[in-house]
Amino acid sequence: MEKLTKDFWTTKYQVNDIGWDIGEVSTPLKKYFDQLTNKNLKILIPGCGNAYEAEYLFNHGFKNITLIDFSKIALDNFSNRTPEFPKNQLINDDFFSHYNTYDLIVEQTFFCAINPELRKEYAKKMHQLLNKNGRLVGLLFNIELNKDKPPFGGNKKEYITYFEPYFNIEIMEIANNSIIPRSNTELFIKLIKK
Ligand SMILES: C[S@@+](CC[C@H](N)C(=O)[O-])C[C@H]1O[C@@H](n2cnc3c(N)ncnc32)[C@H](O)[C@@H]1O
Repeated sequence: MEKLTKDFWTTKYQVNDIGWDIGEVSTPLKKYFDQLTNKNLKILIPGCGNAYEAEYLFNHGFKNITLIDFSKIALDNFSNRTPEFPKNQLINDDFFSHYNTYDLIVEQTFFCAINPELRKEYAKKMHQLLNKNGRLVGLLFNIELNKDKPPFGGNKKEYITYFEPYFNIEIMEIANNSIIPRSNTELFIKLIKK
């Protein structure tokens, strides 16, 4: 398999090969965000891409948001759309090299983009990046996808093996409000740090 490096992802944005980009906050996450009352939550969005989730949160009063992506182009796109967002909260680096702690981490087509061999590492890293009672919330594909390049699929049974050692699985169910092209193909997850 091709190495999924910073260059790999940067090229995707350069040539506009970004089929995953839905152009707006995903509906299940919007619904989740809308019921959050604590605007001071410290939030991380790794593999944020063009970061519509961050734009939505920021425009709805959440200010303590950190974004990480391999692609500077994607972060610049976000910054141009959201000029008030503090530049020092944009990190152009590898998620796996990041150290800090958060109350909420948002997953939106990042897990499916990493090499499946790193899935165990992803679960461990998410655990490390969360504060006590912190949550990992978002969407995971629940279908077979590519074997040799992103997006990589999977299923609930497999995902439980990665997350159960580190999280209490409060929700891992087929989302009932996905965008139409992803209808019945993604699990909404809410995992609480053990
Ligand atoms: C499939 S895209 C999803 C982007 C965005 N979440 C969305 O839904 O539009 C995956 C993103 O993760 C980023 N990425 C992949 N591996 C990464 C890593 N190890 N560290 C930081 N970013 C990474 C890529 O640059 C890309 O923007």
